[in-house]
Amino acid sequence: MSGVNEIRSTFLDYFAKNGHTTVESSSLVPRNDPTLMFTNAGMVPFKNLFTGAEKRDYTRAASAQKCVRAGGKHNDLDNVGYTARHHTFFEMLGNFSFGDYFKEQAIVLAWNLIIKEFGLPKDRLLVTVYHDDDEAFCLWKKIAGFSDDRIIRIASSDNFWSMGETGPCGPCSEIFYDQGEALRGGPPGSPDEDGDRFLEFWNLVFMQFEQVAPGQRVPLPRPSIDTGMGLERIAALMQGVHSNFEIDLFRALIRAVADATGVEPDGPMQASHRIIADHLRASAFLVADGVLPANEGRGYVLRRIMRRAMRHAQMLGARDPLMWRLVPALVREMGAAYPELSRAQPLIEETLKLEETRFRTTLARGLAILDEETRDLIEGQSLSGDVAFKLYDTYGFPLDLTQEALRARKIGVDKTAFDAAMERQRAEARKAWTGSGDAATETVWFAIKDKVGATDFLGYETESAEGVVVALVRDGVERDALKTGEKGLVILNQTPFYAESGGQVGDTGVLHAGETRLRVENTVKKVGDLFIHEVVVERGEVRRDMALQLDVDHERRSAIRANHSATHLLHEALREVLGDHVAQKGSLVAADRLRFDFAHPKPVTDQELAQVEDIANRVILENAAVSTRLMEVDQAIESGAKALFGEKYGDEVRVVSMGGGARRAFSVELCGGVHVSRTGDIGLVSIVGRSAVAAGVQRIEAKTAASARHHLNSEARVLRDLSGLLRAPVEDAADRLAALLEERKKLERELTEARKKLAMGGGGGNAEEPVRQVAGVKLFARAISGVEMKDLKSLADEAKQSIGSGIVAIIGVAEDGRAGVVVAVTPDLTTKFNAVDFVRLASEKLGGKGGGGRPDMAQAGGPDGAAADQALAAIAELLEQRAAS
Ligand code: ALA
Repeated sequence: MSGVNEIRSTFLDYFAKNGHTTVESSSLVPRNDPTLMFTNAGMVPFKNLFTGAEKRDYTRAASAQKCVRAGGKHNDLDNVGYTARHHTFFEMLGNFSFGDYFKEQAIVLAWNLIIKEFGLPKDRLLVTVYHDDDEAFCLWKKIAGFSDDRIIRIASSDNFWSMGETGPCGPCSEIFYDQGEALRGGPPGSPDEDGDRFLEFWNLVFMQFEQVAPGQRVPLPRPSIDTGMGLERIAALMQGVHSNFEIDLFRALIRAVADATGVEPDGPMQASHRIIADHLRASAFLVADGVLPANEGRGYVLRRIMRRAMRHAQMLGARDPLMWRLVPALVREMGAAYPELSRAQPLIEETLKLEETRFRTTLARGLAILDEETRDLIEGQSLSGDVAFKLYDTYGFPLDLTQEALRARKIGVDKTAFDAAMERQRAEARKAWTGSGDAATETVWFAIKDKVGATDFLGYETESAEGVVVALVRDGVERDALKTGEKGLVILNQTPFYAESGGQVGDTGVLHAGETRLRVENTVKKVGDLFIHEVVVERGEVRRDMALQLDVDHERRSAIRANHSATHLLHEALREVLGDHVAQKGSLVAADRLRFDFAHPKPVTDQELAQVEDIANRVILENAAVSTRLMEVDQAIESGAKALFGEKYGDEVRVVSMGGGARRAFSVELCGGVHVSRTGDIGLVSIVGRSAVAAGVQRIEAKTAASARHHLNSEARVLRDLSGLLRAPVEDAADRLAALLEERKKLERELTEARKKLAMGGGGGNAEEPVRQVAGVKLFARAISGVEMKDLKSLADEAKQSIGSGIVAIIGVAEDGRAGVVVAVTPDLTTKFNAVDFVRLASEKLGGKGGGGRPDMAQAGGPDGAAADQALAAIAELLEQRAAS
């Protein structure tokens, strides 16, 4: 039992047997500690359990925790490869008691493990205790049977462990292994303790206090235990090797490097092999935890690690990108213990390949420039900051890579001049931006961005995290605090809140700490990548530098995820059904619906929409995994991704794929939004609306999951109400309604007929006889209500027939009081009388203007139907005058 995987499982099994819950390693990106760049100790994920702020259903736990020490305070990057024990990535084995057992049990458990399970020889072991910790001293004596000289009291901070300036802390006791006289070095506390002979491999921390502020320490609610054992160290010790790089796991990785490059691992290029093996682990695990190479924050630390390894790959003579080809070896060694590594394997390989391809195009030229510029420099001199900056800016050489390349020749870099060049470039970028228009209002954002840098976005991986307030803004001005009831803008060093972009709405949720509670009403982005939380302070106050718990509204975010993924499915389904010309013209992804605009020359038919909906729902039912990768734009488009509407891309893009078979995904899109992890999480997509927004641009609206269900339910409810009113079962309702509408039309026709009859004097009503003689001419004059203009003419024709010779004037008054008038003259009289004259006169009386037609038939209208009788009287009068003339 001494392989790394066996040691890890022996450790975890042993503590499980002793009542400890085995807790999976937490992410390398700390969720609950905004002050840390990366998880760097086993206790980090348990911080709040020690202080009592959080409770879980266990009080004993054990874990193998992934740790990274590169960037931030603990930066081991520069040493890796040149020493026996420095790593950027390592695993920390630990057992923890949260107010359960304390010192004695911790020592008993540790002792039994190393003696009985690991079988380490007792006579090689010794321990240290904090100088005044008599209790620990006595316990070691009793439990291990050590003589006094094997228990060394240490007064320095080496034996008082604290996680940082604040947080849980306490005295500790370290366990050492004597590797024998062949190695140089003295026991702990002695002048030559830094030698390699006495190797510290396990630290037991007796957590007793919480450092709440510098100089202020309070006891923890209950004394606790935190231990940390570097897995690579214990493995080296148990495998009898003097360097961590000689343990089985590293040997396998270094073998893979040697196989791929043909360079002997233990010759003069040993450091390069070690650096590549170490950095491969850090890079792969960081990518698996959602970090991607970038130019700021965590992403930049990852890029530095990757590029440092890539330069060494080049030094080993690798002609093509090397790192990605080593991933299978790493997955073989560590994939079983860390399934996230296997899951992310394709993403890791692609990310490494892309980064190395990009870097290699400039690496050789950059190195040539470096050679050229340093040719005349001698040991102790420095490279100019401007050249270092050019290498950084144009050739992608992180400063530490340049420094390392010169290290062997003992040449430094003028860092002050490098920083100044960096600052100049920033100022210029800012000027360029300020020319863009809305600069005046944005000044405050530039100032903040310069001070605090870009916000680290954690929201692809998590919906809650801690963050530190780095700036507060109210009414366009920076503030120190926001008080209860105030509205304002909060900027944090990192956030899981998605900021409105690419059609997806911003997240909402709460920010809180103790009494303070802020409601986030929206999140937006400014000057590129500064995330702005629009808040209302509901309780307490928020100040700069405060640490807050950040919780995205989970339900709303889930709905947004479903809608965004459904948008991609609908997009692809539309292409399948309508053709490849379907291109996205805009979209909105909100919590309750999605909207998608696309190019298509004609309205989409019902049948086409039904097909689109069917296809999208089929992929949902497949419950296929949704994957996100980082690629170069060209490569992404080649793999089937469609460029998005109105988005600007940097060189690298996120590519989201879902559905389909192993060889080709159903949908591949460039997208920065958030998505479901499997298509089944969308539940259901239902197209609820369609329209045309512009010539050749169609729009569909859809709903998913609960919101689709609610929508369909409410439509079903309306249908049930209708079927109740129609007194017909739901399935007969449409026929029944059609029959009712048909019947109504028939009744309307009959009603019009009846009215006409009445108007023509029939029907036996008590209407006045409509025909009289005026100056020897027959005049048919009638005002009738409820008859429309369109029916007046046919009535006039009928009247003409019935009087044979004469003049017909009919006024119809509609429901709204408006009137229409028709005047007809029989053919024998048209030389004498013009219908147009009569109709004009009538129209005037009815409040209208003019009218028109032919001498035998003219029509007009007017708003004042109440004047119908006066109009008819005026017609009679005019007839009398004309007949007399
Ligand atoms: N937290 C302790 C350490 O990191 C065990 O050494």
